[in-house]
Amino acid sequence: MKPVYTILIAGLMFGACNKEMKVKNHTYGNYEDVRISHIALDLNVDFEKKSLSGTAVLNIENLTGASEIVLDHKNMDIEGAEVDGKEATFTIGKYDSTLGAPLIIPITKESKKITVKYRTHADAEALQWLSPEQTHDKKQPFLFSQSQAILARTWIPLMDAPAIRFTYEATIKVPNHLLALMSAANPTEKNKEGIYHFKQEKPIPSYLMAIAVGDVEFKNLGRNTGVYAEPGMIEKSAWEFESMQSMVDSAEALYGPYAWGRYDVLVLPPSFPFGGMENPVLTFATPTIIAGDRSLVSLVAHELAHSWSGNLVTNETWNDFWLNEGFTVYFEQRIMEKIYGHDYAEMLTALSRGELQRTIDSMMIDPEQKPDTKLFLNLDGRNPDDGVTDIAYEKGRFFLRSIENVVGRKNWDAFIIQYFSENSFKTMTTERFIDYLQKNLLNKNTEWAAKINYKDWIYGEGLPENCEKIESTELKKVSAAVTNYSKTRDVAAIDTAGYTTHHWLFLLRNLPKMSAQEMKNLDAKFGLSKGGNSEILCDWFQLCVRNGYNDANNEMRTFLNSVGRRKFLTPIYRELIATTEGKKLAIDIFNQAQSGYHAVAVKTLKDMLGI
Ligand code: BES
Ligand code: ZN
Repeated sequence: MKPVYTILIAGLMFGACNKEMKVKNHTYGNYEDVRISHIALDLNVDFEKKSLSGTAVLNIENLTGASEIVLDHKNMDIEGAEVDGKEATFTIGKYDSTLGAPLIIPITKESKKITVKYRTHADAEALQWLSPEQTHDKKQPFLFSQSQAILARTWIPLMDAPAIRFTYEATIKVPNHLLALMSAANPTEKNKEGIYHFKQEKPIPSYLMAIAVGDVEFKNLGRNTGVYAEPGMIEKSAWEFESMQSMVDSAEALYGPYAWGRYDVLVLPPSFPFGGMENPVLTFATPTIIAGDRSLVSLVAHELAHSWSGNLVTNETWNDFWLNEGFTVYFEQRIMEKIYGHDYAEMLTALSRGELQRTIDSMMIDPEQKPDTKLFLNLDGRNPDDGVTDIAYEKGRFFLRSIENVVGRKNWDAFIIQYFSENSFKTMTTERFIDYLQKNLLNKNTEWAAKINYKDWIYGEGLPENCEKIESTELKKVSAAVTNYSKTRDVAAIDTAGYTTHHWLFLLRNLPKMSAQEMKNLDAKFGLSKGGNSEILCDWFQLCVRNGYNDANNEMRTFLNSVGRRKFLTPIYRELIATTEGKKLAIDIFNQAQSGYHAVAVKTLKDMLGI
């Protein structure tokens, strides 16, 4: 049994109510009593007020004859509630800064439809309202959402936990000249009325609810694939994603039919806080992967893979997050291997293996972080965002790879196909996964279980001894260059002919401690500070800070002002705050840049900077 913590209902709106509320798995929702099967949204998008307003109609079934339904909501005004068309008296419980507050509506055994009239606040954390200047084309405003992990409740009153699935439909009214898109069947063209209708007929968890509104165009890429982007980005994006249709085809060939109809990607403005988000039908992506050389498209393979691991078979709680991400990184690598070949895919895996080791080493020496090196997390009473580390992704992936290594690819692939198909549109816990693994795979050979030793991986801290080390022939060439440079300090001898983004990353991550002058020489030869590849820039600026090379400060400031992807921001800011002087600079840059960052990035950085 998981511990639960309790929150006292303060009883705001309509009379006092001092009942204790249970919070389990980050939701107030009483989902074991009341089932939500469908949500219909009717919302107006107001860019001036930075608000969504309208109604959410929830189809419900009162399974246990409960006397109330409890919903999650945060940073929104509730303007009224109805039960089966009749006005209802609702109560709002005590506010918690992570979870928001419970919204309690009395129901009877027969109740079928709950209507909530509401209006979101300008600071609703899921939503980022961008001014025209914050977009690529700088002509029209833009709105996008990011609901994972528990932010759907800031723009829709619902039960906000991955264990709960529902279908949805929506009518969205937007200003003229803008297109609305959701994680559902989407329009490809604007209409004069600015009213768009959506339907998602497959049941999804709340964290996959998504909306974007902006001046975007569509370009078809293949049979069931396409890309949406601002007009000034659409051609570049279509070129970059040339392999998207073949990714979908490869994924289907590997692990079974794609369940969601179309697969499109929306390229967002640069403040998008993640690399990608697997919103069904429509992946949301950072523009920083449009590198001009197709070198960062593994991110699309990753988000596409979530169409199976995550969107079909969903982590039941955020403690089981590794089931979503570990499987997805594994699957991503298989797609990359199928399209680009074994050597290329192994180079990416080897690079990640290095990162995993670095993450483990740093988390293991911090008593607070050490327990979070387990695959199965304990996030009760914490923000699920705390679980978003390399552990779920990379330790998860290497665990699955270790199973493949023991049982052989043929058995493993057959198991995964069965796992996805038997558990489609269901949730999965770590415990049930282990059980499923034992009953459907490990039972075939008595030696396998001992070799795999899943307990060490899932419930143990750090990395099991037998975690694979990856040899990449490509990266060995870079290692040789690093060894030579470490001895000779001769920049001229570093031969980068044929380097891809990943060779560069490996080089930067393995260079020895250097003086500011040596950094300057490196920069002079390769023009790194002025580069255009965000992944490389991110590593380069960390190196600049670490080695006291201040000549790159202006470029670094520009970079931190122009991207909002948390994965790039945090390591650079973290490097900066290691010295008193650096910390001053970090706070100064943050104050200048934060209006361009999404709420989830702002929160992480404020925590880190202690402001
Ligand atoms: N689902 C995640 C993003 C996420 C996780 C958002 C948890 C909020 C909470 C997405 O699939 C993801 O993993 N994105 C990565 C890219 C990937 C290639 C590792 C990212 O954003 O960097
Ligand atoms: Zn992911």
